[in-house]
Amino acid sequence: MSVTAVVGCQWGDEAKGKFVDYLSAHASIVARYNGGDNAGHTVVNQYGTAKLRLLPNGLFNPGTNCVIGAGVVVNLATLIEEIHFFDQSGLDYQQRLWISPRCHVVMPYHPLIEEIYEKARGEGRTGTTRRGMGPVHADKVSYNGIRLYDLADEAVFAEKLRLQLAIKNPTFQAFGMPPLDFEAVYREKLEQYARLAAFVREPYALVQETLKGGGSILLEGAQGALLDNNWGTYPFCTASTTLAGGAAAGLGIPPHHIRRVVGIAKAYTTRVGSGPMPTELDDQDGQTLQREGQEFGTVTGRARRCGWFDAEIVRFTCQLNGVTDLALTKLDVLDSLPLIKICTGYRNASADQHLLQYWEGDAAWLETCQPEYIVMEGWLSSTRQASVFSQLPAQAQAYVHKIEELVETPLRWISVGPGRTETIAL
Ligand code: GDP
Ligand code: IMO
Ligand code: MG
Repeated sequence: MSVTAVVGCQWGDEAKGKFVDYLSAHASIVARYNGGDNAGHTVVNQYGTAKLRLLPNGLFNPGTNCVIGAGVVVNLATLIEEIHFFDQSGLDYQQRLWISPRCHVVMPYHPLIEEIYEKARGEGRTGTTRRGMGPVHADKVSYNGIRLYDLADEAVFAEKLRLQLAIKNPTFQAFGMPPLDFEAVYREKLEQYARLAAFVREPYALVQETLKGGGSILLEGAQGALLDNNWGTYPFCTASTTLAGGAAAGLGIPPHHIRRVVGIAKAYTTRVGSGPMPTELDDQDGQTLQREGQEFGTVTGRARRCGWFDAEIVRFTCQLNGVTDLALTKLDVLDSLPLIKICTGYRNASADQHLLQYWEGDAAWLETCQPEYIVMEGWLSSTRQASVFSQLPAQAQAYVHKIEELVETPLRWISVGPGRTETIAL
Protein backbone atom coordinates (compact mmCIF):
# COMPACT_ATOMS: atom_id res chain seq x y z
CA MET A 1 0.00 0.00 0.00
CA SER A 2 1.55 3.28 -0.96
CA VAL A 3 0.07 6.68 -1.50
CA THR A 4 2.34 9.48 -2.70
CA ALA A 5 1.30 13.09 -3.01
CA VAL A 6 3.13 15.33 -5.48
CA VAL A 7 2.84 18.99 -4.51
CA GLY A 8 4.23 22.33 -5.64
CA CYS A 9 6.42 24.11 -3.07
CA GLN A 10 6.37 27.60 -4.60
CA TRP A 11 3.78 29.56 -6.60
CA GLY A 12 2.94 26.81 -9.11
CA ASP A 13 4.58 25.66 -12.37
CA GLU A 14 7.40 23.89 -10.53
CA ALA A 15 7.29 21.00 -13.07
CA LYS A 16 4.83 18.83 -11.16
CA GLY A 17 3.59 17.48 -14.51
CA LYS A 18 7.04 16.15 -15.39
CA PHE A 19 7.41 14.44 -12.01
CA VAL A 20 3.92 12.93 -11.96
CA ASP A 21 4.70 11.43 -15.35
CA TYR A 22 8.14 10.30 -14.11
CA LEU A 23 6.78 8.69 -10.93
CA SER A 24 3.60 7.22 -12.40
CA ALA A 25 5.07 4.41 -14.51
CA HIS A 26 3.86 1.75 -12.07
CA ALA A 27 1.00 3.60 -10.38
CA SER A 28 -2.38 1.88 -10.15
CA ILE A 29 -4.07 5.27 -9.93
CA VAL A 30 -3.09 8.87 -10.60
CA ALA A 31 -5.61 11.31 -9.18
CA ARG A 32 -6.19 15.04 -9.28
CA TYR A 33 -7.75 16.29 -6.05
CA ASN A 34 -7.82 20.10 -6.20
CA GLY A 35 -8.06 23.10 -8.51
CA GLY A 36 -9.44 23.00 -12.00
CA ASP A 37 -8.30 24.00 -15.46
CA ASN A 38 -6.33 26.88 -13.99
CA ALA A 39 -3.60 24.24 -13.80
CA GLY A 40 -1.33 23.51 -16.75
CA HIS A 41 0.95 20.49 -16.30
CA THR A 42 3.49 19.85 -19.03
CA VAL A 43 4.65 16.35 -19.85
CA VAL A 44 7.32 15.58 -22.40
CA ASN A 45 7.48 11.88 -23.25
CA GLN A 46 7.34 9.50 -26.20
CA TYR A 47 3.92 10.86 -27.22
CA GLY A 48 5.30 14.36 -27.62
CA THR A 49 4.54 17.37 -25.43
CA ALA A 50 1.23 17.56 -23.62
CA LYS A 51 -0.02 20.42 -21.46
CA LEU A 52 -2.78 18.91 -19.37
CA ARG A 53 -5.11 21.08 -17.35
CA LEU A 54 -7.65 18.62 -15.97
CA LEU A 55 -6.80 15.08 -17.02
CA PRO A 56 -4.28 13.40 -14.70
CA ASN A 57 -0.86 12.79 -16.18
CA GLY A 58 -0.97 9.02 -15.60
CA LEU A 59 -3.21 8.56 -18.62
CA PHE A 60 -0.08 7.97 -20.71
CA ASN A 61 0.63 4.72 -18.83
CA PRO A 62 -1.51 1.89 -20.23
CA GLY A 63 -1.97 0.23 -16.82
CA THR A 64 -2.90 3.32 -14.82
CA ASN A 65 -6.40 4.39 -13.83
CA CYS A 66 -6.89 8.14 -13.79
CA VAL A 67 -9.23 9.82 -11.39
CA ILE A 68 -10.58 13.33 -11.17
CA GLY A 69 -11.60 13.46 -7.53
CA ALA A 70 -14.52 15.25 -5.90
CA GLY A 71 -12.33 18.19 -4.88
CA VAL A 72 -11.67 19.24 -8.48
CA VAL A 73 -13.89 21.75 -10.30
CA VAL A 74 -14.38 20.82 -13.93
CA ASN A 75 -14.70 22.89 -17.06
CA LEU A 76 -16.48 20.58 -19.50
CA ALA A 77 -15.12 22.26 -22.65
CA THR A 78 -11.54 21.76 -21.42
CA LEU A 79 -12.23 18.11 -20.60
CA ILE A 80 -13.64 17.51 -24.08
CA GLU A 81 -10.60 19.17 -25.66
CA GLU A 82 -8.19 17.03 -23.64
CA ILE A 83 -10.06 13.82 -24.31
CA HIS A 84 -9.91 14.68 -28.01
CA PHE A 85 -6.12 14.90 -27.63
CA PHE A 86 -6.01 11.37 -26.21
CA ASP A 87 -8.38 10.11 -28.91
CA GLN A 88 -5.88 11.27 -31.49
CA SER A 89 -2.87 9.84 -29.68
CA GLY A 90 -4.21 6.32 -30.16
CA LEU A 91 -3.89 5.57 -26.45
CA ASP A 92 -6.54 3.33 -24.99
CA TYR A 93 -7.94 5.30 -22.05
CA GLN A 94 -11.72 4.76 -22.09
CA GLN A 95 -11.83 2.21 -19.29
CA ARG A 96 -9.24 4.05 -17.23
CA LEU A 97 -10.76 7.48 -16.76
CA TRP A 98 -13.03 8.19 -13.80
CA ILE A 99 -14.55 11.59 -13.06
CA SER A 100 -16.36 11.95 -9.77
CA PRO A 101 -19.98 13.08 -10.18
CA ARG A 102 -19.36 15.12 -7.04
CA CYS A 103 -17.16 17.52 -9.00
CA HIS A 104 -18.57 21.03 -9.32
CA VAL A 105 -18.96 22.39 -12.82
CA VAL A 106 -17.57 25.72 -14.00
CA MET A 107 -20.54 27.49 -15.57
CA PRO A 108 -20.31 30.31 -18.15
CA TYR A 109 -21.20 32.86 -15.49
CA HIS A 110 -18.21 32.07 -13.29
CA PRO A 111 -15.48 33.68 -15.45
CA LEU A 112 -17.82 36.66 -15.98
CA ILE A 113 -18.26 37.22 -12.26
CA GLU A 114 -14.51 36.89 -11.87
CA GLU A 115 -14.05 39.58 -14.52
CA ILE A 116 -16.32 41.97 -12.61
CA TYR A 117 -14.31 41.50 -9.41
CA GLU A 118 -10.96 41.75 -11.16
CA LYS A 119 -11.98 44.98 -12.92
CA ALA A 120 -13.32 46.46 -9.70
CA ARG A 121 -10.02 45.75 -7.94
CA GLY A 122 -8.05 47.61 -10.61
CA GLU A 123 -4.38 47.70 -9.66
CA GLY A 124 -5.07 45.39 -6.73
CA ARG A 125 -6.38 42.58 -8.93
CA THR A 126 -5.31 39.01 -8.30
CA GLY A 127 -4.29 38.39 -11.89
CA THR A 128 -6.20 35.12 -12.09
CA THR A 129 -6.14 32.64 -14.95
CA ARG A 130 -9.72 33.77 -15.76
CA ARG A 131 -11.07 30.24 -15.50
CA GLY A 132 -13.72 31.24 -12.97
CA MET A 133 -12.01 29.52 -10.03
CA GLY A 134 -12.94 32.02 -7.30
CA PRO A 135 -16.65 32.18 -8.23
CA VAL A 136 -17.11 28.44 -8.81
CA HIS A 137 -15.59 27.69 -5.40
CA ALA A 138 -17.65 30.48 -3.82
CA ASP A 139 -20.82 28.89 -5.23
CA LYS A 140 -19.65 25.51 -3.98
CA VAL A 141 -19.19 26.58 -0.38
CA SER A 142 -22.36 28.68 -0.34
CA TYR A 143 -24.49 25.73 -1.58
CA ASN A 144 -25.10 27.31 -4.97
CA GLY A 145 -22.95 24.99 -7.02
CA ILE A 146 -23.98 22.76 -9.90
CA ARG A 147 -22.34 19.34 -9.85
CA LEU A 148 -21.98 16.64 -12.47
CA TYR A 149 -24.68 14.78 -10.54
CA ASP A 150 -27.08 17.61 -11.40
CA LEU A 151 -26.30 17.46 -15.12
CA ALA A 152 -27.31 13.81 -15.15
CA ASP A 153 -30.91 14.87 -14.42
CA GLU A 154 -32.27 17.44 -16.86
CA ALA A 155 -35.07 18.61 -14.57
CA VAL A 156 -32.76 19.10 -11.61
CA PHE A 157 -30.25 20.92 -13.78
CA ALA A 158 -32.94 23.21 -15.26
CA GLU A 159 -34.19 24.16 -11.82
CA LYS A 160 -30.71 24.89 -10.45
CA LEU A 161 -29.62 26.81 -13.52
CA ARG A 162 -32.80 28.94 -13.48
CA LEU A 163 -32.16 29.91 -9.88
CA GLN A 164 -28.54 30.83 -10.53
CA LEU A 165 -29.35 32.89 -13.61
CA ALA A 166 -32.13 34.69 -11.68
CA ILE A 167 -29.44 35.85 -9.25
CA LYS A 168 -26.50 36.33 -11.59
CA ASN A 169 -28.13 37.98 -14.62
CA PRO A 170 -29.24 41.13 -12.74
CA THR A 171 -25.65 41.51 -11.56
CA PHE A 172 -24.37 41.33 -15.13
CA GLN A 173 -26.93 43.89 -16.24
CA ALA A 174 -25.99 46.21 -13.38
CA PHE A 175 -22.41 46.13 -14.71
CA GLY A 176 -23.51 46.79 -18.31
CA MET A 177 -23.00 43.20 -19.41
CA PRO A 178 -25.59 41.17 -21.35
CA PRO A 179 -27.53 38.56 -19.38
CA LEU A 180 -26.93 34.86 -20.10
CA ASP A 181 -29.62 33.04 -22.01
CA PHE A 182 -31.07 30.09 -20.09
CA GLU A 183 -31.75 27.94 -23.19
CA ALA A 184 -28.28 28.46 -24.64
CA VAL A 185 -26.47 27.59 -21.40
CA TYR A 186 -28.81 24.69 -20.66
CA ARG A 187 -28.31 23.10 -24.09
CA GLU A 188 -24.59 23.68 -24.22
CA LYS A 189 -23.96 22.05 -20.83
CA LEU A 190 -26.22 19.07 -21.52
CA GLU A 191 -24.52 18.48 -24.87
CA GLN A 192 -21.09 18.66 -23.27
CA TYR A 193 -22.19 16.39 -20.45
CA ALA A 194 -23.48 13.80 -22.94
CA ARG A 195 -20.00 13.61 -24.47
CA LEU A 196 -18.43 12.97 -21.09
CA ALA A 197 -21.11 10.92 -19.36
CA ALA A 198 -19.31 7.59 -19.91
CA PHE A 199 -16.46 8.78 -17.67
CA VAL A 200 -18.61 10.27 -14.93
CA ARG A 201 -18.64 7.50 -12.35
CA GLU A 202 -17.77 7.63 -8.69
CA PRO A 203 -14.20 6.36 -8.21
CA TYR A 204 -14.65 5.81 -4.45
CA ALA A 205 -14.78 1.99 -4.61
CA LEU A 206 -11.89 1.83 -7.09
CA VAL A 207 -9.75 3.94 -4.76
CA GLN A 208 -10.69 1.97 -1.64
CA GLU A 209 -10.08 -1.36 -3.35
CA THR A 210 -6.71 -0.16 -4.60
CA LEU A 211 -5.77 0.87 -1.06
CA LYS A 212 -6.86 -2.51 0.27
CA GLY A 213 -5.10 -4.44 -2.47
CA GLY A 214 -1.81 -2.65 -1.90
CA GLY A 215 -1.75 -0.79 -5.23
CA SER A 216 0.06 2.49 -5.47
CA ILE A 217 -1.74 5.81 -5.80
CA LEU A 218 -0.17 9.04 -6.94
CA LEU A 219 -1.91 12.28 -6.01
CA GLU A 220 -1.28 15.02 -8.57
CA GLY A 221 -1.46 18.35 -6.79
CA ALA A 222 -2.25 21.46 -8.78
CA GLN A 223 -0.83 24.96 -8.11
CA GLY A 224 1.71 25.47 -5.32
CA ALA A 225 1.69 25.85 -1.54
CA LEU A 226 2.03 29.63 -1.70
CA LEU A 227 -1.21 29.79 -3.70
CA ASP A 228 -3.08 27.80 -1.05
CA ASN A 229 -6.29 29.48 0.04
CA ASN A 230 -5.34 29.32 3.74
CA TRP A 231 -1.54 29.45 3.76
CA GLY A 232 -0.74 31.25 0.52
CA THR A 233 -0.33 34.97 -0.01
CA TYR A 234 -4.08 35.64 0.39
CA PRO A 235 -5.85 37.27 -1.44
CA PHE A 236 -3.19 36.70 -4.11
CA CYS A 237 -3.78 32.98 -4.12
CA THR A 238 -6.11 30.44 -5.64
CA ALA A 239 -9.51 29.22 -4.49
CA SER A 240 -8.69 25.67 -3.44
CA THR A 241 -6.31 23.98 -1.05
CA THR A 242 -3.05 23.10 -2.74
CA LEU A 243 -1.47 21.20 0.14
CA ALA A 244 -0.86 17.49 0.62
CA GLY A 245 -3.25 17.72 3.55
CA GLY A 246 -6.05 18.66 1.15
CA ALA A 247 -5.56 15.54 -0.91
CA ALA A 248 -7.27 13.26 1.60
CA ALA A 249 -10.53 15.20 1.44
CA GLY A 250 -10.24 16.08 -2.26
CA LEU A 251 -9.98 12.47 -3.32
CA GLY A 252 -11.67 10.71 -0.42
CA ILE A 253 -8.97 8.72 1.39
CA PRO A 254 -7.99 8.58 5.06
CA PRO A 255 -5.02 10.94 5.64
CA HIS A 256 -2.83 8.29 7.28
CA HIS A 257 -2.47 6.53 3.92
CA ILE A 258 -0.36 9.39 2.54
CA ARG A 259 3.06 8.11 3.55
CA ARG A 260 5.17 9.96 1.04
CA VAL A 261 4.99 13.59 0.00
CA VAL A 262 7.07 14.59 -2.99
CA GLY A 263 7.65 18.34 -3.05
CA ILE A 264 8.61 20.00 -6.32
CA ALA A 265 10.60 23.24 -6.30
CA LYS A 266 12.30 25.10 -9.11
CA ALA A 267 15.97 25.97 -8.67
CA TYR A 268 14.83 29.62 -8.77
CA THR A 269 11.43 31.24 -8.18
CA THR A 270 8.59 32.17 -10.54
CA ARG A 271 5.14 33.53 -10.08
CA VAL A 272 2.27 34.39 -12.47
CA GLY A 273 -0.25 37.02 -11.45
CA SER A 274 -0.05 39.60 -8.68
CA GLY A 275 1.10 39.42 -5.09
CA PRO A 276 4.31 39.61 -3.08
CA MET A 277 7.42 37.79 -4.27
CA PRO A 278 10.41 38.89 -2.19
CA THR A 279 13.13 37.58 -4.52
CA GLU A 280 11.65 38.97 -7.75
CA LEU A 281 14.25 40.42 -10.15
CA ASP A 282 13.68 43.17 -12.64
CA ASP A 283 17.22 43.15 -13.98
CA GLN A 284 19.21 41.18 -16.51
CA ASP A 285 19.45 38.10 -14.28
CA GLY A 286 15.65 38.04 -14.12
CA GLN A 287 15.50 38.27 -17.90
CA THR A 288 17.98 35.41 -18.20
CA LEU A 289 15.80 33.20 -15.98
CA GLN A 290 12.71 34.18 -17.94
CA ARG A 291 14.36 33.51 -21.31
CA GLU A 292 16.30 30.35 -20.45
CA GLY A 293 13.42 28.90 -18.46
CA GLN A 294 10.89 29.86 -21.16
CA GLU A 295 8.80 31.17 -18.35
CA PHE A 296 5.42 31.77 -19.92
CA GLY A 297 2.19 30.63 -18.26
CA THR A 298 0.87 27.33 -19.65
CA VAL A 299 -2.77 28.44 -19.38
CA THR A 300 -2.63 32.17 -20.09
CA GLY A 301 0.65 32.62 -21.98
CA ARG A 302 1.57 35.47 -19.61
CA ALA A 303 5.27 36.02 -18.88
CA ARG A 304 6.05 34.60 -15.44
CA ARG A 305 7.81 36.84 -12.92
CA CYS A 306 11.24 35.42 -12.09
CA GLY A 307 13.64 35.69 -9.16
CA TRP A 308 16.24 33.91 -7.04
CA PHE A 309 15.54 30.73 -5.10
CA ASP A 310 13.81 31.58 -1.83
CA ALA A 311 14.92 28.97 0.68
CA GLU A 312 12.73 30.52 3.38
CA ILE A 313 9.50 29.80 1.51
CA VAL A 314 10.58 26.35 0.35
CA ARG A 315 11.68 25.40 3.87
CA PHE A 316 8.28 26.58 5.10
CA THR A 317 6.26 24.80 2.41
CA CYS A 318 8.23 21.56 2.87
CA GLN A 319 7.44 21.73 6.57
CA LEU A 320 3.77 22.59 5.94
CA ASN A 321 3.29 19.72 3.51
CA GLY A 322 5.47 17.24 5.38
CA VAL A 323 7.63 16.79 2.29
CA THR A 324 9.59 13.55 2.55
CA ASP A 325 11.31 13.79 -0.85
CA LEU A 326 12.22 16.99 -2.65
CA ALA A 327 12.78 17.42 -6.40
CA LEU A 328 14.75 20.46 -7.53
CA THR A 329 13.81 21.30 -11.11
CA LYS A 330 15.14 23.42 -13.98
CA LEU A 331 18.68 23.56 -12.60
CA ASP A 332 19.88 23.88 -16.22
CA VAL A 333 18.20 27.29 -16.47
CA LEU A 334 20.95 28.70 -14.21
CA ASP A 335 23.76 27.41 -16.46
CA SER A 336 24.78 30.82 -17.85
CA LEU A 337 24.73 32.87 -14.62
CA PRO A 338 28.12 33.83 -13.13
CA LEU A 339 26.70 34.47 -9.64
CA ILE A 340 23.58 32.96 -8.12
CA LYS A 341 21.80 34.15 -4.99
CA ILE A 342 19.74 32.23 -2.45
CA CYS A 343 17.36 33.98 -0.07
CA THR A 344 17.65 32.73 3.52
CA GLY A 345 15.02 34.94 5.17
CA TYR A 346 13.82 38.54 5.26
CA ARG A 347 14.34 41.87 6.96
CA ASN A 348 12.07 44.89 7.07
CA ALA A 349 11.98 48.24 8.85
CA SER A 350 11.04 46.63 12.17
CA ALA A 351 13.60 46.36 14.94
CA ASP A 352 13.57 42.56 14.79
CA GLN A 353 17.08 41.17 15.04
CA HIS A 354 16.20 37.72 13.73
CA LEU A 355 15.68 36.89 10.07
CA LEU A 356 11.95 37.16 9.41
CA GLN A 357 10.03 34.09 8.24
CA TYR A 358 7.18 33.75 5.76
CA TRP A 359 4.55 32.63 8.27
CA GLU A 360 5.00 35.67 10.52
CA GLY A 361 2.76 37.93 8.48
CA ASP A 362 0.30 38.34 5.64
CA ALA A 363 0.75 39.35 2.01
CA ALA A 364 0.88 43.07 2.81
CA TRP A 365 3.56 42.40 5.44
CA LEU A 366 5.55 40.25 3.02
CA GLU A 367 5.59 43.20 0.60
CA THR A 368 7.55 45.15 3.23
CA CYS A 369 10.20 42.43 3.50
CA GLN A 370 13.58 42.53 1.81
CA PRO A 371 15.37 39.26 1.09
CA GLU A 372 18.63 38.44 2.83
CA TYR A 373 20.90 36.64 0.37
CA ILE A 374 23.89 34.41 0.28
CA VAL A 375 25.82 34.46 -2.98
CA MET A 376 27.03 31.31 -4.71
CA GLU A 377 29.38 30.94 -7.63
CA GLY A 378 27.77 29.94 -10.94
CA TRP A 379 29.11 27.07 -13.08
CA LEU A 380 28.94 28.63 -16.54
CA SER A 381 28.58 25.30 -18.33
CA SER A 382 25.78 23.03 -19.43
CA THR A 383 24.18 20.64 -16.96
CA ARG A 384 21.77 19.22 -19.54
CA GLN A 385 23.80 16.07 -20.22
CA ALA A 386 24.39 15.13 -16.57
CA SER A 387 22.69 11.88 -15.61
CA VAL A 388 24.37 11.32 -12.26
CA PHE A 389 25.17 13.83 -9.52
CA SER A 390 28.94 13.50 -9.92
CA GLN A 391 28.66 14.72 -13.53
CA LEU A 392 27.37 18.10 -12.35
CA PRO A 393 29.97 20.89 -12.17
CA ALA A 394 31.38 21.38 -8.65
CA GLN A 395 29.64 24.76 -8.27
CA ALA A 396 26.28 23.22 -9.23
CA GLN A 397 26.83 20.47 -6.65
CA ALA A 398 27.61 23.12 -4.03
CA TYR A 399 24.46 25.09 -4.98
CA VAL A 400 22.28 22.00 -4.66
CA HIS A 401 23.88 20.98 -1.34
CA LYS A 402 23.33 24.48 0.05
CA ILE A 403 19.66 24.39 -0.92
CA GLU A 404 19.18 20.99 0.69
CA GLU A 405 20.79 22.26 3.89
CA LEU A 406 18.68 25.45 3.98
CA VAL A 407 15.32 23.82 3.24
CA GLU A 408 15.99 21.05 5.77
CA THR A 409 14.44 18.39 3.53
CA PRO A 410 16.03 15.39 1.78
CA LEU A 411 16.65 16.07 -1.90
CA ARG A 412 15.91 13.02 -4.07
CA TRP A 413 15.94 14.29 -7.65
CA ILE A 414 17.45 17.07 -9.72
CA SER A 415 15.87 17.91 -13.05
CA VAL A 416 18.07 19.30 -15.82
CA GLY A 417 15.62 19.29 -18.73
CA PRO A 418 11.94 18.76 -19.51
CA GLY A 419 12.24 15.12 -20.64
CA ARG A 420 11.73 12.05 -18.45
CA THR A 421 15.34 11.01 -18.79
CA GLU A 422 16.75 14.43 -17.94
CA THR A 423 16.47 13.57 -14.28
CA ILE A 424 19.21 12.84 -11.76
CA ALA A 425 18.14 10.52 -8.96
CA LEU A 426 20.13 10.96 -5.76
P1 GDP B 1 3.60 22.36 -13.54
O1 GDP B 1 2.40 23.23 -13.62
O2 GDP B 1 4.19 22.33 -12.16
O3 GDP B 1 3.36 20.98 -14.06
O4 GDP B 1 4.72 23.04 -14.47
P2 GDP B 1 4.49 23.62 -15.94
O5 GDP B 1 4.32 22.49 -16.86
O6 GDP B 1 3.45 24.67 -15.95
O7 GDP B 1 5.87 24.37 -16.18
C1 GDP B 1 7.10 23.70 -16.15
C2 GDP B 1 7.83 23.93 -17.50
O8 GDP B 1 9.20 23.62 -17.39
C3 GDP B 1 7.30 23.03 -18.60
O9 GDP B 1 7.39 23.72 -19.82
C4 GDP B 1 8.27 21.85 -18.58
O10 GDP B 1 8.37 21.17 -19.82
C5 GDP B 1 9.55 22.56 -18.26
N1 GDP B 1 10.54 21.76 -17.51
C6 GDP B 1 10.30 20.81 -16.57
N2 GDP B 1 11.46 20.41 -16.00
C7 GDP B 1 12.45 21.11 -16.59
C8 GDP B 1 13.86 21.17 -16.42
O11 GDP B 1 14.44 20.51 -15.56
N3 GDP B 1 14.55 22.05 -17.21
C9 GDP B 1 13.94 22.82 -18.14
N4 GDP B 1 14.70 23.66 -18.86
N5 GDP B 1 12.60 22.80 -18.33
C10 GDP B 1 11.86 21.97 -17.55
P1 IMO C 1 -0.15 24.76 -11.96
O1 IMO C 1 -0.94 23.58 -11.45
C1 IMO C 1 0.86 28.97 -11.55
C2 IMO C 1 -2.29 31.63 -10.06
C3 IMO C 1 -2.81 32.66 -11.02
C4 IMO C 1 -3.17 33.78 -10.06
C5 IMO C 1 -3.72 33.02 -8.86
C6 IMO C 1 -5.23 32.90 -8.84
O2 IMO C 1 0.09 24.75 -13.41
O3 IMO C 1 1.08 24.96 -11.15
P2 IMO C 1 -6.92 31.43 -10.24
O4 IMO C 1 -7.19 31.38 -11.71
O5 IMO C 1 -6.50 30.13 -9.66
O6 IMO C 1 -8.04 32.04 -9.47
O7 IMO C 1 -5.69 32.45 -10.10
O8 IMO C 1 -3.16 31.72 -8.95
N1 IMO C 1 -2.35 30.23 -10.55
C7 IMO C 1 -1.27 29.54 -10.96
N2 IMO C 1 0.01 29.93 -11.12
N3 IMO C 1 0.50 27.70 -11.79
C8 IMO C 1 -0.77 27.29 -11.61
O9 IMO C 1 -1.14 26.00 -11.71
C9 IMO C 1 -1.74 28.24 -11.21
N4 IMO C 1 -3.07 28.19 -10.97
C10 IMO C 1 -3.41 29.40 -10.55
O10 IMO C 1 -1.81 33.05 -11.94
O11 IMO C 1 -2.02 34.45 -9.65
MG1 MG D 1 1.69 24.86 -14.71
